[in-house]
Amino acid sequence: MKRASIGKRILLIISGGIAAYKALELIRLLRGHGHGVTCVLTTNGGQFVTPLSLQALSEGKVYTDLFSLTDESEMGHIQLSRSADLVVVAPASADILAKMATGLANDLASTLLLATDKSVLVAPAMNVRMWLHPATRRNVARLSADGALFVGPEDGEMACGEYGPGRMSEPPQIVETIRAALSAPAGGAGLLAGRHVVVTSGPTHEPIDPVRFIANRSSGKQGHAIAVAARLAGARVTLVSGPVTIPDPPGIETRHVETAREMLAAVEAALPADIFIGAAAVADWRVEATPDKIKKQREGGAPALTLFENPDILARVAAREAGRPALVVGFAAETRDLLRHAREKLARKGCDLVVANDVSAGVFGADENEVHIVSAKGVESWPRLGKEAVAARLVQLLGRELAGDSGKSSP
Ligand code: CTP
Repeated sequence: MKRASIGKRILLIISGGIAAYKALELIRLLRGHGHGVTCVLTTNGGQFVTPLSLQALSEGKVYTDLFSLTDESEMGHIQLSRSADLVVVAPASADILAKMATGLANDLASTLLLATDKSVLVAPAMNVRMWLHPATRRNVARLSADGALFVGPEDGEMACGEYGPGRMSEPPQIVETIRAALSAPAGGAGLLAGRHVVVTSGPTHEPIDPVRFIANRSSGKQGHAIAVAARLAGARVTLVSGPVTIPDPPGIETRHVETAREMLAAVEAALPADIFIGAAAVADWRVEATPDKIKKQREGGAPALTLFENPDILARVAAREAGRPALVVGFAAETRDLLRHAREKLARKGCDLVVANDVSAGVFGADENEVHIVSAKGVESWPRLGKEAVAARLVQLLGRELAGDSGKSSP
């Protein structure tokens, strides 16, 4: 696929944090994709990486000082903030997020962030407690409302030994997000600007009694990544998520549901939309739940569970007569006869496109996915990619489809 973002200029701000070392790999990858990178290093960032390393990899001047007479005479800080196609803050510490959210401008990085007229993509990296602190939550919400784009943070083991959300996304994932952000024409209007996208994600839980439920292995990573990619492309996104352990993506209206029936109600409440993407692994059946905990039978034996079929959310959305989204996208997670089942689902559920993947090889919970795009036009097979990359490609594809098909847009 042709890269839409060849030869752009990235202004990369590196703030303080152990993840600053990943900025070196990020510069290398961006340059490999043909982008120019200009680095700005904060004083704290300079404790983790040296200007010399950044200069060697970016092959350009590294800016560190707001009051440098030589820098100012070569390129003023206002000009520096506007010379880029995209401003990327990676890693973004809790400190720089707080400065951005409040509009402080007391060093070169924060001044550039206040002066820029370009989109800003932020890759947070900090201790889990700092990320979950109400002050950081407020700052992230404020920045999202102001239009900042986010990638990560990820769940994982941190340099400080704690575990949880706060680890900076890996450079390849940041590059994919940059690519999606750069696909937006200047002014922030993206491929999906003005569009509403509804995405379902994660599993559903179907209660058996007050303490037990039927679930499945879906992690929500792919659905959440699609919601993020659609937002990066300028859409208003409603994410309807089943119970997952990953955090709500910043800047995206997320509705939390538990059962398939709750998911259907939340989707119907979120419509109309231009695109519906059913990435959730919805339970096909629910149980006739008992109000009291089922007790083990003393004389032995297991209780019988009566199952009822759940509503098919995807099929219902696709069958809507009034306000059917212009594009209805389903997923087909299969362990055998992948393409045959995917084609059959495309027809049976009445959707425009099915993203088919083989789940026999440990896709659930993994960070990568290998998918085939099945539509009336045929099958397009994509290589094994990170789930964010799959999401970015899918959003590009849907944006192009929609652009060539504006007549079917929802009211
Ligand atoms: N889906 C849905 N509502 C359901 C079941 C599935 O919206 N009750 C959607 C999923 O979100 C996915 C697609 O339908 O986009 C396919 O889901 P899948 O579980 O693979 O299909 P099933 O219809 O359950 O078919 P089967 O169990 O035979 O594979």
